[in-house]
Amino acid sequence: MNVLLIGASRGIGLEFARQYLDAGDRVIATARDAEGLARLNELGAETLQIDVSDPASISGLSWKLDGEKIDVAIYVAGVWSTGGALSPPTREAFDHVMHTNVLGAMQALPQVAPWVEEAGGKFAFITSGLGQISTAQSSYAWTYRVSKAALNMAVVAAQSDYPKATFIALCPGWVQTDMGGAGAPLTVEASVGAMRATLAKITRKDKAKFLHHDGQPYPSW
Ligand SMILES: NC(=O)c1ccc[n+]([C@@H]2O[C@H](COP(=O)([O-])OP(=O)(O)OC[C@H]3O[C@@H](n4cnc5c(N)ncnc54)[C@H](OP(=O)(O)O)[C@@H]3O)[C@@H](O)[C@H]2O)c1
Repeated sequence: MNVLLIGASRGIGLEFARQYLDAGDRVIATARDAEGLARLNELGAETLQIDVSDPASISGLSWKLDGEKIDVAIYVAGVWSTGGALSPPTREAFDHVMHTNVLGAMQALPQVAPWVEEAGGKFAFITSGLGQISTAQSSYAWTYRVSKAALNMAVVAAQSDYPKATFIALCPGWVQTDMGGAGAPLTVEASVGAMRATLAKITRKDKAKFLHHDGQPYPSW
């Protein structure tokens, strides 16, 4: 199986690389700096250097994948932000989060989806339950919530343009990474193992769904 991971230098992305390589799959993985690329190379992944928040950096992705059949693609890159609605976000803070979590995914999607369609494959976008509008009860991590809700819309809205691929918005749970912190209930191994199992079992009937790491559907967006 050919697997593409976008934003895999550490945390959940790096663990996806480790587990897919251990399973015997071919992994093409992106990172934005030399340290991240070296970690992926050491595992045995093929690497591409991409900063997802920079359209110029990500613009070459399609031709770098020219002729590939991607069975599973995963957009993992993301950044966190604190701060609620009692004060406005700065433009810099807003742009940092939105460019990484939303613009990067919207730049990647049209470049990668045709190669996923070649394989009749699956394209997962790592989102968050904090992006669920129907259950939001506070403005905690306001800009991050907005970014993941926007990411979810980007995924669902794009699905019909790529009918031979299956897109999903996939929440990893609260996971022990640099972002999730040591107090998170899920280890990165368990979260990624569950997400791999979910990706293996979804079918075309699951197109444009919002799923928990274990494959349970969110009842609403
Ligand atoms: N951990 C959780 O509890 C949790 C919960 C819900 C959702 N998520 C989502 O899961 C995904 C992975 O999070 P994580 O927990 O693994 O976080 P993490 O440990 O902080 O890793 C974030 C990853 O995103 C990459 N990244 C950030 N900005 C980038 C850019 N401009 N270009 C390329 N790569 C970039 C980082 O690369 P660098 O090393 O170069 O910074 C790193 O590989 C994110 O989308 C996050 O929102 C996490």
